[in-house]
Amino acid sequence: MNTRKSPESLRSHRWLGVEDLRSFGHRSRLRQMGYDADDWKGKPVIAILNTWSDINACHAHFKARAEDVKRGILQAGGFPVEIPCMSLSEPFQKPSTMLYRNLLAMEAEENLRSYPIDGAVLMGGCDKTTPGLVMGAISMGLPFIYIPAGPMLRGNWRGEQLGSGSDAWKYWDEKRAGNISDADWAEIEGGIARSFGTCMVMGTAATMMIIAEALGLSLPGASTIPAADASHPRMCAASGRRIVDMVWEDMTPDKVLSPASFDNAIKVHMAVGGSTNAIIHVIAMARRAGIALSIERFDQLSREVPVIANIRPSGKYLMEDMFYAGGLPGLMSEIKGKLDGGAMTVNGRSLGDNIATAKVWLKEVILPVDKAIYAEGATAILKGNLAPRGCVMKPAAAEPRLRQHRGKAIVFRDYDEMAREVEREDLDVTPDHVLVLQNAGPKGGPGMPEWGMLPIPRKLVKAGVRDMLRISDARMSGTSYGACILHVTPESFVGGPLALVKTGDEIEVDVKGRRIHLGVSDEELAKRRSQWQPLPPRYERGFGRMYQEHVGQADDGCDFEFLEAGSTVPEPEIH
Ligand code: FES
Repeated sequence: MNTRKSPESLRSHRWLGVEDLRSFGHRSRLRQMGYDADDWKGKPVIAILNTWSDINACHAHFKARAEDVKRGILQAGGFPVEIPCMSLSEPFQKPSTMLYRNLLAMEAEENLRSYPIDGAVLMGGCDKTTPGLVMGAISMGLPFIYIPAGPMLRGNWRGEQLGSGSDAWKYWDEKRAGNISDADWAEIEGGIARSFGTCMVMGTAATMMIIAEALGLSLPGASTIPAADASHPRMCAASGRRIVDMVWEDMTPDKVLSPASFDNAIKVHMAVGGSTNAIIHVIAMARRAGIALSIERFDQLSREVPVIANIRPSGKYLMEDMFYAGGLPGLMSEIKGKLDGGAMTVNGRSLGDNIATAKVWLKEVILPVDKAIYAEGATAILKGNLAPRGCVMKPAAAEPRLRQHRGKAIVFRDYDEMAREVEREDLDVTPDHVLVLQNAGPKGGPGMPEWGMLPIPRKLVKAGVRDMLRISDARMSGTSYGACILHVTPESFVGGPLALVKTGDEIEVDVKGRRIHLGVSDEELAKRRSQWQPLPPRYERGFGRMYQEHVGQADDGCDFEFLEAGSTVPEPEIH
């Protein structure tokens, strides 16, 4: 396709190929590590950005997989260099890995910029690692290929298949209601995560791995391979081989990514019933690529594409089943007519070519379009006086009665207040109330923690209530479910209308009309606004302070304004 680059035009040549004192220093240090000129001379240097960590179970196999990637790079005549990047382990990192997504993006960009790198392999998977790595690599603009960690095996408890997150929430409510014992709960704890790999429901990790593939950033089929399947190391080696050719072909991200590839990714997101978190990440990735994308596009495309992946939390099966059913290529073949087959992918072929022979093998797992779980509108963007710039809901995950609902608000000023109040047996609450959480947005959390699936008050759980309308400027785990309205923008911490809601106010939601309305007069809202006092920033120093000062709102992708496309950073001077 492209003219082949010459060894002298490689970026690394500036460090390794010229004859001066600096290059002497670089080469002597490579020799210090046991390499010889045969290892690097005239070869592309490929960075393997590895988010392995002892505290990230989702990436536990990456230590070994990096060796498979190196094998592929060496086979193709490249020089592999593994560079660790921060791991963003979803279960352990507090208050939220979202706080650190932009830090990983900066780390990826700066690692690629400051070292003698010609191309990169990005190893991610656990939630924010995918967008973090991809955002940074897009900004740097070198050829790159993304390797997804792959989902873990299905969970198991007494022969019942358990799904990450979803079944934890489900059985936690059963435990709170007194329906299962401590011993049952301990068994579930031991069975819900049985192997390395990411969450195996259609949570944020699976959604983002799938979106990366749909964008054309991974080899075909990569995103749905279970982490423990032998296909996974084979895919890693193949990705290593391919990135070397991508460097010679100068296949930079601007040659892969286009408005069409982002539309494809959003349509695939809808077809898999993907995580709401992906909306923020896709907008951020698009803007890094200089492609304008708004949240309205998600609403438009969601009306065109049905949910056909019968995967939890929207459906019945798990990611392992999706692999056996034909994986993402199989699913894309089912909605082929809705995708732009001309979009380019990292293997040098178009998306249409890649899925030309793909098929669905298990039609109960990847459903035919005419048997969709949800015909259209998997993601709804609502607007109104409570969310002038929009908010997000997954109507399919909510009890139907709550898709058109009016009720009185119960307002919690922050997470701690909410956590205390929902446990009170005497809380004045009915299933028709609307729970409202403030100060959980990008700046308020900060980092927009996944608090958006507010717990159903204990008193109602005991009475058998399992869903009610909940509204916040927080995010929600992709493994969560329920009538949760998220990402209310502008957020309450900066004085958005959500900050002005009081307990007892009436709130109306109409999903079909895409409307959310606070039943308070404009005069009263203006009065409340004049009395509103901002909370002090939560961080006085460090990255948290930088985050609070620079993070954008959810509809802008929560990126830092100084990292979006437009500004250019020069190549480093080599002195
Ligand atoms: Fe890593 Fe869910 S905890 S993907």
